[in-house]
Amino acid sequence: MKKTFLFFLLLLPLIVSAQTEKAFPDLIPYPQYVVKDAGIYQAKSDVLTYYSDLKGQQARDFDAHLATSDWKLRAVNKKSKADIFFQIDTVDPQLVNEESYRIEINKRGIMVSASTDAGLFYAYQTLLQVAEQTSTDVKTCNSLPFLKIFDTPRLGWRGWHMDVSRHFFDKAFLKRQLRNMARYKLNKFHWHLTDDPGWRIEIKRYPELTQKTAYRPQHLFTEWTAQGMKFCNAADPQAYGGYYTQDDVCEIVEFARKLHITVVPEIEMPGHSWEVLAAKPELGCTGKPYANGEMCIGNEETFVFLKNVLDEVLPLFPSAYIHIGGDEANRSHWEKCEKCQKRMQAENLKDVKELQSYLTRRIEKYLESKGRHLLGWDEIIEGGLSPNATVMSWRGEEGGIVSAQAGHDAVMTPWVCYLDNAQDDPRLEPRGVGGYVSLKKTYDYDPVPKVLNEKESKHILGIQGNVWAEHIPTPARAEYMIYPRIFAIAENGWTVPSQKSYTRFHHAAQRELDRLKTLGFRTFDLRYEHGDRKESLTPVRHKALGKKVTYNMPYSPKYVASGDATLVDGKRGTFNYQEGFWQGFETHDFDVTIDLDEVTDIHKVSACFMQRNDQWIWMPREVVISISDDGKNFTEIHREGCDIDPENPAVLFQYFTWEGNKRARFVRYHAIANGRVGGWLFTDEVIVE
Ligand code: ACM
Repeated sequence: MKKTFLFFLLLLPLIVSAQTEKAFPDLIPYPQYVVKDAGIYQAKSDVLTYYSDLKGQQARDFDAHLATSDWKLRAVNKKSKADIFFQIDTVDPQLVNEESYRIEINKRGIMVSASTDAGLFYAYQTLLQVAEQTSTDVKTCNSLPFLKIFDTPRLGWRGWHMDVSRHFFDKAFLKRQLRNMARYKLNKFHWHLTDDPGWRIEIKRYPELTQKTAYRPQHLFTEWTAQGMKFCNAADPQAYGGYYTQDDVCEIVEFARKLHITVVPEIEMPGHSWEVLAAKPELGCTGKPYANGEMCIGNEETFVFLKNVLDEVLPLFPSAYIHIGGDEANRSHWEKCEKCQKRMQAENLKDVKELQSYLTRRIEKYLESKGRHLLGWDEIIEGGLSPNATVMSWRGEEGGIVSAQAGHDAVMTPWVCYLDNAQDDPRLEPRGVGGYVSLKKTYDYDPVPKVLNEKESKHILGIQGNVWAEHIPTPARAEYMIYPRIFAIAENGWTVPSQKSYTRFHHAAQRELDRLKTLGFRTFDLRYEHGDRKESLTPVRHKALGKKVTYNMPYSPKYVASGDATLVDGKRGTFNYQEGFWQGFETHDFDVTIDLDEVTDIHKVSACFMQRNDQWIWMPREVVISISDDGKNFTEIHREGCDIDPENPAVLFQYFTWEGNKRARFVRYHAIANGRVGGWLFTDEVIVE
């Protein structure tokens, strides 16, 4: 056992508890071991100096990174003259993982060791955060507290995904975020480069892709969809959009590489390709532009196109993984297409899911022939997973679990990792993608599902925070959505569960937000957080609790909540209709009868409904409340219309309530749907007082 490690064991009781409210140092992500000692190391001169073992390009990259950091350190060419010694240690078994590092600050100096430049880079990120908390001005920080840190990542994939198709984000924006990502030890940038609202990467062989689809007449994605999803030329006076030239891409990839971030490109196929078919309609089943967004899999030209695109994409991205999308294809187009049907016959494919798998397998084979691995959204499981595919699990955890159990690697990005959800009371927040995901919800997520055994768990490569840009039209809005939840993604990927503490993390997150604000980032502020829907925090007691509910119309099997007990269990819904407290009724009315067991004095009957028109959830058109003693003959006691505009895009909650004095055994609550086919009613409790 190495001497240093023995030292750690002896000091174990002194390990700075991650559970304390205000740990020093406040680090994001929190390391494996932090041991604080009494004492301060003071620089040999007024500036801290450093020496590193790194050579050649690695040394140049490392020095350049330190030179652009806020903390002014001076490089020296002799170990003996250095305050900080960045040492490469290929012997220490604890440093085998190339991202691990060790820091020891004592009266002799600051010793940093790692087996690679990546480990030293991460050690520096940690030291920098320590320095920022040691000195009021990090620039001039020339002393550091005695500390011992050993750190190693829990998971190897710690990602940030940015959709640059729905709205376009320039290189400067990306670089600003990438610098932060490195600070939080994120190491993958998933660049969502192509999608329905615009192709954003120059392909020299097909200039029409960007010429015809990188610009549109509306800035807002929602206006673009409302007005028929048409593109325009860059020269159009209304034109909004943009794309990255191949030189731009190289610049970002190189910028990221120096930050130890791998850029993983996503080229969507065969769905989410409205823009491809706008530029190259011959690749769609109908041959017409603006008809649908699914490439024709029966057409051999589709494969020629995809291979030609990949032939230009691969040299730009050294990433071992290439993301091919694969999500949300409307497969029904292939059912009606002669060429697709012919392909299915020729290849003996039993349905259109298998047809999509046929495309994925062919593309995988091609990528493998070039030494790359295919990565795709979890729909690629349907119809049979390609032999070596890695799955990005986004529709919950199921895709990741199934993949890991089948021996495939997976990256976890379920709903709580979607940073385009509102992060606070959605009634007060800018419009999000459809849910409420607080910092705590993201933080509490464990990317390694408990149902997996040890061997299967090894297939969980990591976690990723996804930013989709439907409702993110500006860099300021993007930063607001990213920070602070990306800190939680970073800590979930890096820090072992035993070192996690929301109290400690929350404090560190606010400190980090304050720092980002001074640097001009437009972040959320945890000081003003409201939290989840108040009604959901404490159970409600009322006369119908536990009573029998008869559903005159059934709830949807998609949103059963707690089944027949839901409306009388005292549990109120959170801001999210997906969390199992709201019961959903699709297309038809909500109509229930509650049996109170005996004739009872009643003073109030009330239920709350939700409106989220982006999710097709509406208020009832009208509510009718009736009572009965025999359960057969009902007397109407209340009828109430709704004055909320179905077009109102805000997240809304409204009670429909009768109050008075009556006696009855049965209460019927009937909420009449607004008549839109496919629309929903959602309610959580029928309260009888
Ligand atoms: C996705 O969110 N459609 C992957």
